[in-house]
Amino acid sequence: TGGGDCPGINSVIQAVVTRAIQYGYEVLGIQGGYSGLIDGDIRPLSLENVEGVYAVGGTILGTSRTNPFKAEGGPKKVLDNIKKFGIDALIAIGGDDTLSAAQKLNELGVPAVGVPKTIDNDLSATDYSIGFQTAVDIAADAISRLHTTAKSHQRIIIVEVMGRYAGWLTLMAGLAGGAHMILIPEQTFDIESICNVIKEREVKGKTYTIIAVAEGAKPKHIEDLVTVSKEKDEFGHVRLGGIAEILEKEIAKRTGKEARSVVLGHLQRGGSPNSFDRILGLRLGLFAVDLVKQRKFG
Ligand code: F6P
Repeated sequence: TGGGDCPGINSVIQAVVTRAIQYGYEVLGIQGGYSGLIDGDIRPLSLENVEGVYAVGGTILGTSRTNPFKAEGGPKKVLDNIKKFGIDALIAIGGDDTLSAAQKLNELGVPAVGVPKTIDNDLSATDYSIGFQTAVDIAADAISRLHTTAKSHQRIIIVEVMGRYAGWLTLMAGLAGGAHMILIPEQTFDIESICNVIKEREVKGKTYTIIAVAEGAKPKHIEDLVTVSKEKDEFGHVRLGGIAEILEKEIAKRTGKEARSVVLGHLQRGGSPNSFDRILGLRLGLFAVDLVKQRKFG
């Protein structure tokens, strides 16, 4: 399990272990994502280890944003450990970074199967990734809850939603939570037109407005993505964040109305998976082992 955690990963793990043991395979859990594969932090996983974990958030194996191709001697260490631990197949549960590294390892001769996991839902070749629907539920609930307080105070509330460079999470949570405006990375926006919508709503007697904004959304006049830190992780990603606060200040200045920003942050990744992600995780885990059995790798 690599990259950001999310609800539903443990469902995959429980299903993988269960079906693999049915097939007579031994299962090893790699601790902390690719760092465990580099350092040899690898332990057997039994049915007892995974019993009931399908309903628990996070990952029982731990995770990291370690890129095996960036670490000193990484690929060699990985290949040595694959040999040392007698690993015949690697099941990588992750998003674009984890799965692209798994693909590269596959090209180096490590038989690998990828399971799509990310709250961002930004993976090609699949419409579904575990964690996404739970995150939508959490963010939608938060957005819904903001209506009463925004209405009571006649405020503009801007909710910042995760999703990196993709707008799926903001779009779906914004729709389900009844946001009046939804701003996503796929479309740059103009702050003045947002203020105009707020003013038009005001004329119609709608004295409050909820705006859902993706952390990767960008106003036309700003060149770069808004970041908390420009420092890049091992996969080359900066830490996004801060767009809601910028909007809060600009909107208050231009409309004269009170505005507040809310950053949902890691709440969107925490806690138990919803039913959809539990079941999707179980199905993907079972299928991953079936692919191993059929020797369909890469
Ligand atoms: O990819 C999942 C995600 O939650 C993104 O939506 C977000 O930009 C990023 O991870 C945050 O990562 P971290 O938890 O490492 O700060």
